[in-house]
Amino acid sequence: MSIRYQEVTAKLQTEPKVWLVTGCAGFIGSNLLETLLRMGQKVVGLDNFATGHQYNLDEVKKTVTPEQWENFVFHEGDIRDLDACRKAVQGANYVLHQAALGSVPRSLSDPITTNSVNIDGFLNMLVAARDAQVQSFVYAASSSTYGDHEALPKVEDRIGRPLSPYAVTKYVNELYADVFTRAYGFGSVGLRYFNVFGKRQDPNGAYAAVIPKWVAAMIRGEDVVVNGDGETSRDFCFIDNVVQANILAALAQPDGINQVYNVAFNARTSLNELFEYLAKALGNNGIVYDKQPVYSEFRAGDVRHSQADISKAKNLLGYEPMHNIVQGLEVSMPWYTQFLR
Ligand SMILES: NC(=O)c1ccc[n+]([C@@H]2O[C@H](COP(=O)([O-])OP(=O)(O)OC[C@H]3O[C@@H](n4cnc5c(N)ncnc54)[C@H](O)[C@@H]3O)[C@@H](O)[C@H]2O)c1
Repeated sequence: MSIRYQEVTAKLQTEPKVWLVTGCAGFIGSNLLETLLRMGQKVVGLDNFATGHQYNLDEVKKTVTPEQWENFVFHEGDIRDLDACRKAVQGANYVLHQAALGSVPRSLSDPITTNSVNIDGFLNMLVAARDAQVQSFVYAASSSTYGDHEALPKVEDRIGRPLSPYAVTKYVNELYADVFTRAYGFGSVGLRYFNVFGKRQDPNGAYAAVIPKWVAAMIRGEDVVVNGDGETSRDFCFIDNVVQANILAALAQPDGINQVYNVAFNARTSLNELFEYLAKALGNNGIVYDKQPVYSEFRAGDVRHSQADISKAKNLLGYEPMHNIVQGLEVSMPWYTQFLR
């Protein structure tokens, strides 16, 4: 664990703060909620259950003490409703804005809803947070912003053209955040997540991410479908690394604010390698999957390769990812095998 992260978490434990986590019923939001409550923080959550679930909140409740759970206040509401944003942000010191409609394919089939949630909703949250004078505003940006820029590893200031409506919305978030700094002096930090995975990531539906989708298929003995030839690669990032980046970003030093950062591990794993890792990790947990993957068409809007340079987050935030993909899968396996049956 980085020295900076130890310092920051120790300080928070002695001086607890109020955090607003939007999208708290989703995958990343519920993991942020769990960690913050365990650290004795007060958390307000905002979610409309568009893709999040009450059972994620129920699960967090089971993992924290009753006293810690008392520190959580939930607002069911939509970020497209400015009043709901204003109510939720009142009294918050820090905002971790995660609520959005994820998924490149979802945005290709319904660009209008993705646009309204990810852009109008984002702007509402920025305005509400600015007016409430929060100390910091951290938001979920995305590696999809690199678009068709082919150079690897990805460095924050070199981006290409977006390849999907989703990528446009996430880039517009960065533009708005930047304008709010220059126009209103309202600082923020954008975290460009690269393929996050871990417990509570939804395995179901047409827009599920590859890891929970494949693990669920493997546990059920179903076919694993690979889009393309399996040599498409990603920088898979374990959820605990993302939680660390958010907390560090919220307490960034002045030179770390008004920036966007890659949040990843800085490794590249092909889909074929991922298949092997998953089969092995399941095998270590007593589940044998002996089928071969089924190859299908490449998916529209997907970039071919992705890998992040994470030196900016290391240098300016003190980010030190603790788990590579294999370690992250190992930690996640007990949850996958319990919940993805
Ligand atoms: N998971 C990844 O690999 C990844 C990668 C890059 C960026 N991101 C971004 O990280 C954030 C969290 O993603 P996730 O993987 O946890 O997804 P998720 O779908 O599990 O969580 C998103 C949450 O936002 C909520 N939400 C959606 N629309 C809302 C609205 N209009 N009002 C209030 N709440 C709303 C959903 O109900 C859900 O609980 C998103 O902004 C996403 O774009 C995720």
